[in-house]
Amino acid sequence: MKIFLIGNWKLNPETLAKAKKLFNEIEKEFKKFPKVFKKEKIVLCPPFLYLSEIRNLILKSKLKIDLGAQNCFFEEKGAFTGEISPKMLKSLKVKFVILGHSERRRIFGESDEMIQKKVLAVLKEKLTPILCIGETEKQRKAGKTFEVLKNQLKKSLKNLLNFESQTAKIILAYEPVWAIGTKNPCHPKDAKEVLLFLRKFLKKSPILYGGSVDSKNAKEYIEVGYEGLLVGGASLKAKEFVKIAKFISSLT
Ligand code: PGA
Repeated sequence: MKIFLIGNWKLNPETLAKAKKLFNEIEKEFKKFPKVFKKEKIVLCPPFLYLSEIRNLILKSKLKIDLGAQNCFFEEKGAFTGEISPKMLKSLKVKFVILGHSERRRIFGESDEMIQKKVLAVLKEKLTPILCIGETEKQRKAGKTFEVLKNQLKKSLKNLLNFESQTAKIILAYEPVWAIGTKNPCHPKDAKEVLLFLRKFLKKSPILYGGSVDSKNAKEYIEVGYEGLLVGGASLKAKEFVKIAKFISSLT
């Protein structure tokens, strides 16, 4: 089984020159550990504007890294100022699209209904959605974690014809909102409980963990059964990101 390591660069780095530099550093580090690519699936998700350049650098490096986007719209074309379609992403050789990230839900007001349209649009182009779900601190403290997750799942995956075969094409990422960018990761024991719960609904999708993952805790999530990690902050530090890849590949 391949373990996914997905780097979500978010709104970073500030310039194209810095993005290229980051990729070059990642390349240099990965070239020290070529075996990682035989076992793991590495995906980088830079901002839209850097996708072409990073793709060119990936090709030049000959490293087996796939390209992902951090979001997209659900329409193919038309009067939707500022939006980007799955088809456009596909034409840039993007293979994965993060959808429903908590920052999109919270800051940009994305609803489960919008996210489910995006899931369908991304699947239609034969790209792989990385669907993010997660509870807030308040919801966890109120004992509502499972209810919230079930609800998000149900709504975001509504209207999927042939549920079993379609969901096999989706990656699910459990990202507790309170753990994202806080240096307060979910305890692996709690994360395992969630994993077992989610597995009841999605039998075939790889399920990933995300939220304050670093090279010190990465292994623990794979050990409790997660099939990969969605990494934010640590994906912007080349050495740290590659260290995570190295640690998880020592387990598989
Ligand atoms: P983090 O972000 O690793 O910085 O907590 C994870 C994410 O937002 O996907």
